[in-house]
Amino acid sequence: MKAALVVDTETVEIQDVPEPELKDDDVLIKVKVAGVCGSDLHLFKGTHAFRKPPAVLGHEVAGDVVKVGSKVTKFKEGDRVTVLPQVGCGECEFCKQDLVNLCLNKKVPGTPNWIGTFVEYFNAPEETVFKLEDSVTYEIGSLTEPLAVAVHALARASMKSRDCVVILGTGTIGMLCVVAAREMGFKKIITTDTAPFNREMSLRQGAIVSYDPLKDDVEGNVKKLTDGRGADLTLVCAGAPNILDQASACTRRRGEIGLVAMITKPIPFYCYSTVFNEQTVYGAMTYETCDFVKAAEMVNGGVDLSAFVTQRLPLDQTQEALDILNQKKEDVIKVVVTF
Ligand SMILES: NC(=O)c1ccc[n+]([C@@H]2O[C@H](COP(=O)([O-])OP(=O)(O)OC[C@H]3O[C@@H](n4cnc5c(N)ncnc54)[C@H](O)[C@@H]3O)[C@@H](O)[C@H]2O)c1
Ligand SMILES: [Zn+2]
Ligand SMILES: [Zn+2]
Repeated sequence: MKAALVVDTETVEIQDVPEPELKDDDVLIKVKVAGVCGSDLHLFKGTHAFRKPPAVLGHEVAGDVVKVGSKVTKFKEGDRVTVLPQVGCGECEFCKQDLVNLCLNKKVPGTPNWIGTFVEYFNAPEETVFKLEDSVTYEIGSLTEPLAVAVHALARASMKSRDCVVILGTGTIGMLCVVAAREMGFKKIITTDTAPFNREMSLRQGAIVSYDPLKDDVEGNVKKLTDGRGADLTLVCAGAPNILDQASACTRRRGEIGLVAMITKPIPFYCYSTVFNEQTVYGAMTYETCDFVKAAEMVNGGVDLSAFVTQRLPLDQTQEALDILNQKKEDVIKVVVTF
């Protein structure tokens, strides 16, 4: 079968690879759509923490079940599905608390133990497979995974007040945080992005206002819109040297700051503001199974994510798909590869 692999820095090749072997509890999926994610871009650029070339791209997927292992009971040929792309070891202290995202030995696609999703046929254990309603397109089905990241980013906050959330950066993840915040009943959603296209789209998705962090006084405006208090929650969904200070300045006393962006270089942080205002900072890493369940419910319930897929290319043009996201010469939110 055909697969798209990163073979060297910024170089993708379409290769012929063996179809995955189907274990007793596996479902075999004919891939229809696979999304390009930020982590694929890290693999492509050679900056991923543990994925190194040569490696098959992808972990976001939607497709049709074509075969099931002998122990599979919940799925049959023809079912339309998506996949929660992480499997815990089942034994570590985190797996025992259902925190598969933090498993010390978790299995994810695109590693020697599990092929990536940029392939014609993808295998997944039954427990990780989720049905998609007939009304859900494969494209939207493939967005269940990044939506689960957003659901988790918000679920990690412990405050009850839902007056105002600030989302710094509205690429795919920040935009899906807007959707999740809307669903969770936040009254005021304020966003930022350096790209006008993203700012405008976040307004169409329910933000009351969207600022350009390079021109606008983001902190001052957030304060004005919250009677001088600041937001209950600020989600950091972009990386920039001032982003932590900006997050703290946007957040109210006893408010929370959720770190979602993978900022892999040290950046300054004026922590006195966090101490003085008794703010809580938390990290959010992928999702717990309950977050994925919630995201799948939202998708099957008809949440409209259709605006987020801005480019679609066939598998043979995976190189171009990665180049588009890497170079950002055109307006882009989510690029998907189709089969
Ligand atoms: N924690 C997790 O589990 C998880 C999962 C997926 C992605 N991520 C990370 O989340 C981040 C966002 O992912 P994405 O796919 O949306 O990436 P993206 O590149 O599509 O989005 C980033 C957005 O931030 C904007 N931006 C750049 N500088 C900015 C600034 N100073 N202020 C505001 N906006 C700015 C960009 O224009 C872009 O729209 C990445 O760092 C990614 O690695 C984390
Ligand atoms: Zn992803
Ligand atoms: Zn584990």
